[in-house]
Amino acid sequence: MPIDSDTFRRAESVATKTFSLSADPPIFSSGSGVRLSTSEGRTYLDFAAGSGVSNVGHGNPAVLAAVQAQLQSGITHIGPHFHASVQARFFEEMLQVLPGDLTRLHPATNGSEATEIALKACMHYTGARTFLAFTGGYHGRTLGALAVSHAKGSNAGLGPFSPATEFVPYPDSNDDGDSAAATAVRSISRRAGDAPPLAGVIVEPIQATAGVAIPPAGFLEAVATAARESGVPLILDEIFTGFGRTGHLFACRSSGVIPDLLLMGKSMGGGFPGGLVAGREEIMSAWPRGAQSSTFQLHPVTAAAGRAALRYLIDQDLCARARLIETWFASHRAALCASPLTREWRGAGAMFGLELRSVAGVSCGEVARLTRLAALHRGLLTWECGTRSEVMGLMPPLIASEREVADACGRVRDALSEVETRLLGEPAR
Ligand SMILES: Cc1ncc(COP(=O)(O)O)c(C=O)c1O
Repeated sequence: MPIDSDTFRRAESVATKTFSLSADPPIFSSGSGVRLSTSEGRTYLDFAAGSGVSNVGHGNPAVLAAVQAQLQSGITHIGPHFHASVQARFFEEMLQVLPGDLTRLHPATNGSEATEIALKACMHYTGARTFLAFTGGYHGRTLGALAVSHAKGSNAGLGPFSPATEFVPYPDSNDDGDSAAATAVRSISRRAGDAPPLAGVIVEPIQATAGVAIPPAGFLEAVATAARESGVPLILDEIFTGFGRTGHLFACRSSGVIPDLLLMGKSMGGGFPGGLVAGREEIMSAWPRGAQSSTFQLHPVTAAAGRAALRYLIDQDLCARARLIETWFASHRAALCASPLTREWRGAGAMFGLELRSVAGVSCGEVARLTRLAALHRGLLTWECGTRSEVMGLMPPLIASEREVADACGRVRDALSEVETRLLGEPAR
């Protein structure tokens, strides 16, 4: 039965969901592949993928079968002191795909908890209390994760934050990256006499929340080299970029950077909540027994879904598919950049962002909101990102076809025309 708007508004007010686009958002009742549908029968192309989670698509049959089998086993919870066989198998398969000597795993219930675990592991290992992180970085909303996130949003006034964090510039895609890399390298390896020692460096290979900020080649390598030579653990946050999103199982594979700790979440659980830290043995075992646990860490259903999603990703070669999606997206660049509202179109794999500009006295964030709303009215779900919410994120499931990418880009073009007419009058062309 359709949900009436009063019921929805009540749910919004008691369940603290916030939807920034309109007071009348769609309420979904089913999903399949790249599409979500409402009970009224309206279907949307999902290019938000639940904030970059649904990499293997909605209602993926392999994931559903694995979840059903796990439910049938009678184990829906085992707690942090025992392993269910499904968890052991998941860990085993993860170890086979992880880079370098990341041989020790610690499960979490979500991405923020994975960040917290990594921070604590580094603090126990080094004895230091200060982190180096990057402008625009986002690592979660719990207090420790917030401390190392530059993007604190409306929590910015809650400081002082702990652990102490020094922020250095993350290059944007138009930057040559050399000066950002030099600043980071200096901050890691040439610490002034009174500067506190570093417990770790935390960085995203591509910043999603900051609006798909892609550092130039060589930036991550320079940061990783400086960290390694200085004996400072490098935490690579692949919570968004992992599991094929950028066209590689992990984005670090494209740069050859192997971190000391790798953070996973989002798509890792095949649509179910979960997080994971993979790290080098000596860092992950430096803490005393009992230093970290949580009751639901890696839920058995998440392990079943995550294992099925990982296998599907590999069997169907969705990393190659994400690289194809990148070329399909790229072929729409000229059309999308022709709009006077567009500032930049950038991305990697199945992770693209359309940055909007301020026009006619309307802020870039508002132009992006209006464009995303117009896209929503055309049946396209997009993802809000950018430090000023000025970027329309397009993050489809990795199973999206060329036709679906073209369809989505067509809807974005139409949305841009609508907003352009509204803000600037009839387009001249
Ligand atoms: C790069 C990155 N790290 C950490 C997080 C936090 O993950 P979660 O929302 O599951 O706590 C996010 C979420 O958007 C993220 O994009």
